[in-house]
Amino acid sequence: MKKRVLSGIQPSGTLHIGNYFGMMKQMIAWQESSELFCFIADYHALTSVTDGQQLKKDIIDVALDFLALGLDPDKTIFWVQSDVPEVTELTWILSNVTSMGLLERCHSYKDKVAKGLHPNHGLFAYPVLMAADILLYQSQVIPVGRDQKQHVEVARDIAMRFNHTYGETFILPEPEINDDIAVIPGVDGQKMSKSYNNTLEIFTDDKALKKKVMSIMTDSAPVEAAKDPDESVPYLLYKLFASEADTAALAERYRAGGLGYGTVKKELLEIISNFFEPFKKKRADLANNLDYVYGILDKGAEKARFQAKSTIDNVREKIGIRY
Ligand code: ADP
Ligand code: TRP
Repeated sequence: MKKRVLSGIQPSGTLHIGNYFGMMKQMIAWQESSELFCFIADYHALTSVTDGQQLKKDIIDVALDFLALGLDPDKTIFWVQSDVPEVTELTWILSNVTSMGLLERCHSYKDKVAKGLHPNHGLFAYPVLMAADILLYQSQVIPVGRDQKQHVEVARDIAMRFNHTYGETFILPEPEINDDIAVIPGVDGQKMSKSYNNTLEIFTDDKALKKKVMSIMTDSAPVEAAKDPDESVPYLLYKLFASEADTAALAERYRAGGLGYGTVKKELLEIISNFFEPFKKKRADLANNLDYVYGILDKGAEKARFQAKSTIDNVREKIGIRY
């Protein structure tokens, strides 16, 4: 039997190639070998986005991006988190088997507080909502980046606690961290992230992309110097798009000397543009047919809700609030 795999992505900004290679590409591949549940985590995005118009736009943009890049709604259940409100009911129920200490230990929360952010209850309770996402759909495998591993472990702890208190109810989820996926660097060499303003967006116009690619940080070695490719951001990005043979050839040119960074950046720009070109056309077609896209999300929500309802009915029965 196929495993049930679930993951979500927050609609909290324009998706970048770090998101693509770090998460979206794997999700799209999972649809071939698993029963895939993939959702747009708009309730989670409320912890950082407070402009309603912006959130609305970001939600549809994530849907367009995923569908254009190959997520197939005939194979995958694809929906917007808030279209299945049972997840908020489960969040509250799970809160009552979640100790304060468990949440106080979460790195993601602690990091944000350490950076000076004044936390609200939403941010603190974020992992409980995430546990509800996972447990509501009886998910087995949760592919996430390393930063989210602890949150999946929290979901597991909460499931164990609930099962212990009320009897076997939830499947215990396993995080799946793909160690082959490197942290993709941004134009400044730090981890590419919308919070650092260093992203290369997946869907952007050629002029904007060119400006960003040309601004990628490099060292000041002269053209004739031999260079180490593995220390160079343009090479590390090129590698994501190129075949093994082309990557090896570029590495060789780095080591031989005589290669200027301007040349590498031009080649990088070309390979990125060519890679996303066919997806761009598909995205534009989808954007011209939003009713079709909303239809896919509605259908996805209906299917997700069917599973959600079965879990929540069982949970209500167990805790004693079913009439
Ligand atoms: P951001 O850092 O831009 O806010 P998110 O935290 O919303 O991105 O990440 C969404 C998904 O994309 C997560 O699964 C995360 O692991 C992945 N991801 C984001 N940035 C990178 C990166 N630079 N390298 C690899 N994966 C990334
Ligand atoms: N917190 C995840 C992130 O920021 C997104 C997310 C929300 C998620 N609910 C989830 C991921 C459930 C996996 C499973 O990347």
